[in-house]
Amino acid sequence: MKTREQALELLHCYTQSTSLIKHALSVEGCMVWYARHFSVSEEEKTLWGMTGLLHDFDYERYPEPTNPGGHPFEGNRILAEEGYPEELRDAIMGHADYTGVVRGTLMAKVLFAVDELSGLITAAALVRPDRSLKNLEVSSIKKKMKDKAFARGCNREDIKKGAEELGIELDLHIANVLEALRALETEGILVLS
Ligand SMILES: [Fe+2]
Repeated sequence: MKTREQALELLHCYTQSTSLIKHALSVEGCMVWYARHFSVSEEEKTLWGMTGLLHDFDYERYPEPTNPGGHPFEGNRILAEEGYPEELRDAIMGHADYTGVVRGTLMAKVLFAVDELSGLITAAALVRPDRSLKNLEVSSIKKKMKDKAFARGCNREDIKKGAEELGIELDLHIANVLEALRALETEGILVLS
């Protein structure tokens, strides 16, 4: 079993962008939050975290959605060579609908459900006067979600579909992801400003 440190090293090896590193740490935090929420084993929790950390690790180098040569296909190949388990790789493939890989595990469903939403919540925090998650509310995140001009890169349909697949009502899912990200901010893992 790979360690979190090895996963972080691999991420840094392929990714220079600070915002992409922050995104990886955000998604990792949300994965760990949901791993606890669903009371998975310690070993599984580590796997969930690493899946979040690595889900876009190849994106900077291979941004196109093509196979071969694109994200996450190249990443999947590299992860297989590196000896990362199939469950992690399948979830990473599954977070991109265009791969056609089914999100067949709870972990894969959580990854898809937190990916775009964590980006939207972070973007919503960054336009606040305090540039923080501290006073951000679910209602303002929902408003931002409806504002199509805001954070266009965050796919609203994917956010809704993610919550549906997870079987968690959207408002509650937003509150959960907000809580996970807030904890990261408080711990100093996620620095937004
Ligand atoms: Fe992502």
